[in-house]
Amino acid sequence: MTAQKICILGGSGFVGSHLAARLVEQGRQVTIATRRREQAKHLLPLPSVEVVETNIHDPQALKTLFAGHDAVINLVGILHGNRKTFEQVHAELPRKVVSACHAAGVTRLLHMSALGADVNSPSLYQRTKADGEAVVRAAEKTHQLHTTIFRPSVIFGPGDSFLNLFAQLLRLAPVVPLASGNTRFQPVYVGDVVRAFAQSVDDPATYGQTYSLCGPQVYSLADLVRLTAQTLGLKRAVIPLGQPASYLFAALMELKPGRKLMTRDNYYAALKDNVCPEGFPALFGNPTPLEAVIGYLKDANPRCNYRRFRQLARR
Ligand SMILES: NC(=O)c1ccc[n+]([C@@H]2O[C@H](COP(=O)([O-])OP(=O)(O)OC[C@H]3O[C@@H](n4cnc5c(N)ncnc54)[C@H](OP(=O)(O)O)[C@@H]3O)[C@@H](O)[C@H]2O)c1
Repeated sequence: MTAQKICILGGSGFVGSHLAARLVEQGRQVTIATRRREQAKHLLPLPSVEVVETNIHDPQALKTLFAGHDAVINLVGILHGNRKTFEQVHAELPRKVVSACHAAGVTRLLHMSALGADVNSPSLYQRTKADGEAVVRAAEKTHQLHTTIFRPSVIFGPGDSFLNLFAQLLRLAPVVPLASGNTRFQPVYVGDVVRAFAQSVDDPATYGQTYSLCGPQVYSLADLVRLTAQTLGLKRAVIPLGQPASYLFAALMELKPGRKLMTRDNYYAALKDNVCPEGFPALFGNPTPLEAVIGYLKDANPRCNYRRFRQLARR
């Protein structure tokens, strides 16, 4: 059965915006739930997208939101928080999503987790992501939901907040001391991630499956930052810090008000490499090399997505 009407939680964010565009290209109707309509205004030019301002943590509101949809995609996640907020967003919300799908008669759920999600991790982010996965997996039996879970390594592409953040820092500083600089990542392109989601929605072969999503190549964090500098034509010294200095750096950054560069929880998550030896799942095609698309960093204008959506909307 083709899922014609799809509701995305977290659809206003980086991955969600790319996914909404892809689903619209496929001719589907997409509902984006957001806490503040303003956050999703760049999606309004997309045809067949409806933005709904609602409180997704309220079970009744969630049930009302899901009514009439064929599938739900949960992309909501946070990188910084405390125990309460991580649990609320990564574990309690999936529980509410599963119940609301059941109550609203939705039978298909795609869930975004993260590579490294592990109940034994020292990182709250990774532990609560693992709790969320367990909730979704159990729903396959208890709520007769067809579920698919995705676990990407770090995601790059226009509008990302990973390489774009380093690009901003590199423009400011001639020397970049880098916490967790020796940790290895296998970055995956956002276009490949959303292709995997969009392809899975209607594919019964993906029911009950968990997919790790990684790009074709492994890099240390320091190499990724150097590649970013090279792409921007900047000569910069990137100096990976040892573990004690990385911890101290993260603890100091945590004190900074506003947008966080790093927290101790990020440091704990980066104690292990974030790679998948099995590579990108063949079912979803070939992954895009970072070097093939990294030029987007030169166009570090957050409105670059907006232009694409306007083209899609033919406005
Ligand atoms: N980006 C990566 O490199 C990466 C890597 C691995 C896994 N992931 C996972 O992929 C998902 C999407 O990542 P992203 O980079 O697209 O994130 P993002 O740009 O930060 O977007 C997150 C979305 O979640 C919603 N959200 C955040 N906190 C919320 C809260 N407390 N209550 C309700 N909604 C909330 C926001 O919606 P509103 O503000 O509109 O309400 C926003 O649209 C996340 O689950 C993340 O953990 C990302």
